[in-house]
Amino acid sequence: MQTEHILITDPTEQATDIRRAACIIRTGGLVVFPTETVYGLGGDATNADASRRIYAAKGRPSDNPLIIHVASPQDAAMYADTDALYDRLAKAFMPGPLTVIMPRKPIIPLSTTGGLETVAVRCPSHPVAHALIAAAGVPIAAPSANLSGKPSPTCAAHVAQDMDGRVDMILDGGDCEIGLESTIVKLDRDGDGEFLTLLRPGHITLEDLERALGEEVELSKAILEKLPEGAVVRSPGMKYKHYAPATPVVLLEGTPEHVLSYLQERQKTERCAILCYDEEIPHLLPGGLLPVGARDDLATHAHTLFARLRESDSLHADVVYAHLPPREGLGLALYNRMIRAAAHTVRKV
Ligand code: TXA
Ligand code: MG
Repeated sequence: MQTEHILITDPTEQATDIRRAACIIRTGGLVVFPTETVYGLGGDATNADASRRIYAAKGRPSDNPLIIHVASPQDAAMYADTDALYDRLAKAFMPGPLTVIMPRKPIIPLSTTGGLETVAVRCPSHPVAHALIAAAGVPIAAPSANLSGKPSPTCAAHVAQDMDGRVDMILDGGDCEIGLESTIVKLDRDGDGEFLTLLRPGHITLEDLERALGEEVELSKAILEKLPEGAVVRSPGMKYKHYAPATPVVLLEGTPEHVLSYLQERQKTERCAILCYDEEIPHLLPGGLLPVGARDDLATHAHTLFARLRESDSLHADVVYAHLPPREGLGLALYNRMIRAAAHTVRKV
């Protein structure tokens, strides 16, 4: 398949391009589009064939459900059983990098939800994503636009590496601002009423959610821990190896001084790539360094992480070292992605 690449700098001025892209979606084709988190591989969420095409293009197991993207938070009610808690979340965080899992309405086929009776809904804030969904007039199912197992793409060049020839069109909207996938929460109900579970941490943090709702939010075990083989998981994506560069990643845990001297020692004998903090650069040999921002600048770390993981593969190193992120705030989202990239390999130094 020939993939058309279109640079979108202003979706309003380029309404004709957006309409063409929307037409591809409506007729069952695939369009990659930018969001504020990562690029999405989009198809009509109400069309079972389009969902199957998405799975095929990604090389993704078809029991791993897709997020559906809507143009406005209220549209969720057409595709899912929304409730008061959804409305509170929507008011606080939408449009934006939050995905909410709720019971599915029949208009969303099981092939989109990986066979589940629930559906994940997100209303992105990126103007190109918004324009495309609004013009399509259907919800757009979109996983991250990477080949299954690769880091999520945060710029059009990374999308092209994975998706050229596999999709009809790629809309290039530049770098994604956040760089990590959306925060995913699940709405549930028990005898005491509704409650929320955090399934995937992101730019909207556990602390943000608890502050907005004034109540505790449960943290899914799969976020921090390695799941035993064959475990039943609430978010099927959790069980697959993710974000994995070809070179093995080792996370280092220790004081800043200990980690730095460990890295200095390893550089003498090993061909290593290092996801390092800016402060460490003057103290390390220049070869193989992949800076992720200042130690305290977690937003820059999030923004650059996936690009750095992709770059690490081109360095032909034997190992990639990285810091074990803190588990609070945005650190939890970084921790969750990096622990998976490292297949849970943490070395205390
Ligand atoms: O930021 C994002 O969320 C990006 C952009 C494109 O919107 N999308 C994204 O999609 O990251 P994907 O497919 O790469 O990750 C979605 C995750 C998967 O781990 C999937 O298992 C989980 O959401 N998921 C989707 N629907 C679900 C459902 N009904 N129940 C539980 N987990 C679900
Ligand atoms: Mg993904």
